[in-house]
Amino acid sequence: MNEKQRLESQQVQAANSSDKKSEKDFSKYFESVYTPPSLKDAKKRGKEDVQYQDFAIPEEFKNMGKGRHFYIRTYGCQMNEHDTEVMAGIFIGLGYEPTDSVENANVILLNTCAIRENAENKVFGELGHLKHLKQKNPDVLIGVCGCMSQEESVVNKILKTYNQVDMIFGTHNIHRLPNILQEAYMSKEMVIEVWSKEGDIIENLPKVRRGDIKAWVNIMYGCDKFCTYCIVPYTRGKERSRRPEDIIQEVRHLAAQGYKEITLLGQNVNAYGKDFEDIKYGLGDLMDEIRKIDIPRIRFTTSHPRDFDDHLIEVLSKGGNLLEHIHLPVQSGSTEVLKIMARKYSREEYLELVRKIKAAIPNASFTTDIIVGYPNETDEQFEETLSLYREVGFEGAYTFIYSPREGTPAAKMQDNVPMEVKKERLQRLNALVNEFSAAAMKKYQDQVVEVLVEGESKNNPEVLAGYTRNSKLVNFKGPKSAIGKLVKVKITDAKTWSLNGEMIEELEAIEVN
Ligand code: SAH
Ligand code: SF4
Ligand code: F3S
Repeated sequence: MNEKQRLESQQVQAANSSDKKSEKDFSKYFESVYTPPSLKDAKKRGKEDVQYQDFAIPEEFKNMGKGRHFYIRTYGCQMNEHDTEVMAGIFIGLGYEPTDSVENANVILLNTCAIRENAENKVFGELGHLKHLKQKNPDVLIGVCGCMSQEESVVNKILKTYNQVDMIFGTHNIHRLPNILQEAYMSKEMVIEVWSKEGDIIENLPKVRRGDIKAWVNIMYGCDKFCTYCIVPYTRGKERSRRPEDIIQEVRHLAAQGYKEITLLGQNVNAYGKDFEDIKYGLGDLMDEIRKIDIPRIRFTTSHPRDFDDHLIEVLSKGGNLLEHIHLPVQSGSTEVLKIMARKYSREEYLELVRKIKAAIPNASFTTDIIVGYPNETDEQFEETLSLYREVGFEGAYTFIYSPREGTPAAKMQDNVPMEVKKERLQRLNALVNEFSAAAMKKYQDQVVEVLVEGESKNNPEVLAGYTRNSKLVNFKGPKSAIGKLVKVKITDAKTWSLNGEMIEELEAIEVN
């Protein structure tokens, strides 16, 4: 299907819920015009080729934003943050100006996250808050985009209950923002454009980056892993990789602009390149080329242990601008639970991978993601998570209570673990996480570390803040001229989650291999 046909079949103008129709009538009304996003369709992984397209702002829309302001609120992961940078770039291209107050905005977008129920609840709460703005000024456009828009149940709920919303568009439709806005201005009806499946990669997207020190670069989109608890493969579509030359060009460009740190982004970056049919090229190959670019720090996230291969380890061991911090989500320390999660590795395989990485990169530090209270997780299985945590010696973790996501296999599982028990497990795990973080910080007491200075500390403008190579937050006294530079800091006080220190000197230009 080409773009036009797809649009005809899926672009929808749903009636504004000011028509007071019963739920039954309502669905009848939409039968012919409204194709909701489908999790079932989203799960289908076709063999069709990835299309690479170049983005351009259509000439006729270039003045759309004149005299208008936009505001985007972002929830969720770095992928969403980066999508917000792209949407901001498109708004600017359309002539809009940014504002940091919803009261001043002519267009308000909520870029949403569907990963856990509480993430979704925050968005519904915010939509409630925004209602009065719409009542005060009906010309304000309110839009919902991001991962929640990809869910049928969310779109239906918004249609039924949140008539202050003017547009809903999905993660595959971001480049269509100019057309969606135009549609919303032209019609009094809710505009819904959510493609359930998408194989395309759009290049040349404009971006307004958050700062001028650190930048994100997408290397791939989507996820094919289908861990049984996770909604992401449905909301982000199939795995598809950007071409290496496009990524390298973007990183080179950022280096030329003076950026100091790049984070390569994907839901499962270790699967990078698996979808290329013409070349055999993976994350290790990409990192090996990027490390030659004159940029002091390169990170990547998120890794899946299953696809973390020896070539990548070998390349990472070359060090230089490739940082020795590895974020490696484990989710559980129990092989049985990992199996039901469909993570496709065992406890032993995970530990073996960590051992290999430590052997190749002796100063590597590890952080992870963990889910507690997976359906029917036993006390013993939870204890295995604690023991694995100790065995690896993680220096930090994002920890979560399992949240059932509609449409995923785990959501259908019976669960015999009471919420009280899950909460208690989370507390025990977090106590361990704190203990290990504090111990990792202690190692830096009186040491000299390299810090990329990001700006003034949030709590005290007299103090500067930045991160070490392995992502430890450092607060220290130093001149404002150090912002954006790499400096040496002597650590005077190690706390649980951060380090305090004194600046010693600015580093010479960092040597890149
Ligand atoms: N692609 C990444 C992370 C995606 S989501 C990866 O595979 O590691 C970030 C984290 O959210 C996951 O690592 C997992 O720990 C957590 N998560 C995902 N789905 C969840 C759910 N249904 N309930 C609780 N936590 C979840
Ligand atoms: Fe979700 Fe698993 Fe994909 Fe990560 S690898 S995004 S946890 S399905
Ligand atoms: Fe959330 Fe979507 Fe990211 S569900 S975690 S915003 S990929």
